[in-house]
Amino acid sequence: MKVLVVDSGGRGHAIAWQFKNDPNVREVICAPGNAGIAREIRCENARANEEFLELAKREKVDIVFVGPESPLTNGIVDLFTAEKIPIVGPQKSAAILEGSKAYTKLLCRDIGVPVAEFEVFDDPEKAKDYVGAVKYPVVVKADGLAQGKGSIVCSDTEEAFHAIHHLMVEMAFGDAGRKVVIEKRLYGTEISFFVFTDGESLASMPVAQDYKRAYDNDEGANTGGMGSYSPHRLEGEELAKLVCEKVSMPLIQGFKEKQEVPYRGILYTGLMLVDGIPYLLEANVRFGDPEAQVILPRLKTPLSDISFQIINGVLGEKRVEWSPDYYCDVVAAAGRTRQMKGGKSKGWYPGYPARYGKGYPISGLETIDDPDCRIFFAGVSNSATKGFVTDGGRVLHIVGRGNTLSAARDVAYRNIEKVHFEGIRYRTDIGREKE
Ligand SMILES: Nc1ncnc2c1ncn2[C@@H]1O[C@H](COP(=O)(O)OP(=O)(O)O)[C@@H](O)[C@H]1O
Ligand SMILES: [Mg+2]
Repeated sequence: MKVLVVDSGGRGHAIAWQFKNDPNVREVICAPGNAGIAREIRCENARANEEFLELAKREKVDIVFVGPESPLTNGIVDLFTAEKIPIVGPQKSAAILEGSKAYTKLLCRDIGVPVAEFEVFDDPEKAKDYVGAVKYPVVVKADGLAQGKGSIVCSDTEEAFHAIHHLMVEMAFGDAGRKVVIEKRLYGTEISFFVFTDGESLASMPVAQDYKRAYDNDEGANTGGMGSYSPHRLEGEELAKLVCEKVSMPLIQGFKEKQEVPYRGILYTGLMLVDGIPYLLEANVRFGDPEAQVILPRLKTPLSDISFQIINGVLGEKRVEWSPDYYCDVVAAAGRTRQMKGGKSKGWYPGYPARYGKGYPISGLETIDDPDCRIFFAGVSNSATKGFVTDGGRVLHIVGRGNTLSAARDVAYRNIEKVHFEGIRYRTDIGREKE
């Protein structure tokens, strides 16, 4: 069969690579992909949902798998389903679980999924009154999509006032912040938990740890993710049972009962474990990036089989198999570089997640020939004169494999040292387990 993967970054590379190694799959196309992915998988330029549809029809693809949230919240699944092209993911009305944090929190409260105490506001003054009235630290969250930057964790009332102002008055994320959720700040162990679901039953995935902060020891600003590893120390039957029973299953069932629409695809729940209770912080309607890069390499069941089971509503009939291997993903990001204009220095780019330069040649990739190391390409493009150049904040995911976490970690770090581009920066503590 022929598969189309919709994505442009490291997660999409991991999904496409999984299909490439799938015995049922003859050809994989990634759209839009990037120059690095194109080393091993055909990439086609398409950006909008109608363009993906045109490509899928022209190429007569048998199945489509969607990486990021925005095509889903924009209704790509409805569009393809109307044309009878099989596609994995929730339809537009179900993608609201990620598209509106307020909707999801209210649903959870309604159906008894554990969530921190919260209220929803569309008036900044009322939001401030609430923050003043509650006696605990809060998290202020933009209701809509804000590329993972719309949640502001606050330590005191003053910070919360600033956050409300930033989201609701300055509209830092546009309409996404017109409404906010203000919830009690929880202290516990944070995990991401992924399941495949056909709307009725679910198959849980292994657990990954991701690293959101820019610098070592979880310091600095939030990013899309600076690295990840899997298995997580808490992974196992016990945790899977707890989260599926208390969160994933009630959410899938509850959604169907309320909306009369099945939620199909991947359900990603961000959780805080406090005293053995998994509180839902947010729901996402897709794979995480960089979690996919360490979870998918452990998948032993063909992704094409799982995809059709999801679409046909027969997921419950088969087991999904995972390998016990460890994978560790270290992200090479665009760091501090000089800003040049007309041959003159114009100061500095601070580097990802703040402003960063682009177009720096990437060298050393050809020196990586370790069978335990894979590179998933993220912000990379091709220059006619310079070859591979940087083209994003997160540039490369260097993923190591091993029988232990420290072995996987060593592979990733040994190999990332062989890669170079101006300003390259990465965390040095990915996979170093905290006690
Ligand atoms: N109630 C909470 N208590 C403590 N930390 C939280 C809470 N809600 C969110 N966070 C932190 O903020 C991060 C981002 O919040 P999240 O709800 O996942 O939104 P988004 O990923 O869209 O920014 C979480 O990964 C978590 O570390
Ligand atoms: Mg999140």
